[in-house]
Amino acid sequence: MELLKKIHAKAKQDGYLTFDCYTDICLYESHLGYYNNKHISFDQKNSDFITAPELSSIYTESIINFYLQCKKYKKIDNILEFGAGSGEMAYNFLKNIKDNDIPKKYYILEKSIYLRKQQEKKIKLLPEKYKDIVEWIDEVKNIENVFLLANEVLDAIPSKILFRENNIFYEKVIKSKNNKLYFSKIDCSDHLQKKIKNIELRIGSSIPNNYIFEINTLYKKFLSDSISGVKNFIFLIIDYGYNEKEFYHPERTKGTIQFYKNHKKISDPLTDQGNFDISTSVDFSRVNRISNLNNLQLVSYTTQTEFLLNTNILENSLKINDSNKKNNILKTLLLPSDMGENFKMMILCDDDDGNFKMPFKDFRHKL
Ligand SMILES: C[S@@+](CC[C@H](N)C(=O)[O-])C[C@H]1O[C@@H](n2cnc3c(N)ncnc32)[C@H](O)[C@@H]1O
Repeated sequence: MELLKKIHAKAKQDGYLTFDCYTDICLYESHLGYYNNKHISFDQKNSDFITAPELSSIYTESIINFYLQCKKYKKIDNILEFGAGSGEMAYNFLKNIKDNDIPKKYYILEKSIYLRKQQEKKIKLLPEKYKDIVEWIDEVKNIENVFLLANEVLDAIPSKILFRENNIFYEKVIKSKNNKLYFSKIDCSDHLQKKIKNIELRIGSSIPNNYIFEINTLYKKFLSDSISGVKNFIFLIIDYGYNEKEFYHPERTKGTIQFYKNHKKISDPLTDQGNFDISTSVDFSRVNRISNLNNLQLVSYTTQTEFLLNTNILENSLKINDSNKKNNILKTLLLPSDMGENFKMMILCDDDDGNFKMPFKDFRHKL
């Protein structure tokens, strides 16, 4: 109820809430938002969705394998993980990496204070020698030779919802009246109109009437905050999403935002705030353009299936004795209709020299 009161108060004060602003409150409001309250759980029994690191440690073993390959091309001593959830990936990374390859530091930058507490608790379960390696930071500053990692973080960065009606573009907003929240619309700002025009030019067609879609204007800040304080890095971004042509495909008329509770999609995001997840598929072409503007080089863009098959997932899966369990894990991670092709791996770096040889099929041309 407290979160709802805050939403009403802010909507009344500002006249309306844009969807990204509403999502930000629902997910991150201090002590009340979905990710930022004491009930948040990534535990398979109590969670609302499952991420790959939570599904099995063999996923993180593939990430280790890739990290070791990157070290052949670049001096990499440290890791920086953004949005580490329950800390499962960090825990399994350190638990499974050989002593000689242990990073000097494993930094974690986590937006949620409650998840940070859970991560600290999980890392404490590791042997004593790892304790000083993991360090939580509040901003990225003066870090060198580092492997950056963001697994399902970009989909949790709030997006705007837009639509076209009678040939006019509007932004979807939330208003408050008589203690009820309802959807409404405002004219698109000139800034957003310009962005839409550019999307139409790039995809080579007009966005049709009665078409709902998202634009994320916050990736820019996340990416520049992530890289402005690091030198000599490789950045692995993992998430579900598409290139721009697929993202704005004429058949996807209702956009990509999803609301999840108890592993089921819910349809009404205006009730039960703080108790369900809100996420948007990633427009990887947008991420790529922002990266270019930040002088980053795109080393590779591939699917999760390609990435995992070429980082020893099948070999690593052999140690799972229960064959049913093993098959289910592999199916979830690798089948194209499941995570396999919906999830993409984007690899960026600040300075490449053209030396990187990635072992998997590359789909950069699709961006
Ligand atoms: C969907 S969860 C993924 C968690 C974990 N990476 C995993 O795969 O299990 C999103 C995570 O990103 C965090 N997050 C969202 N925005 C962030 C930001 N700007 N900086 C750091 N963490 C962020 C959330 O608090 C949460 O830990």
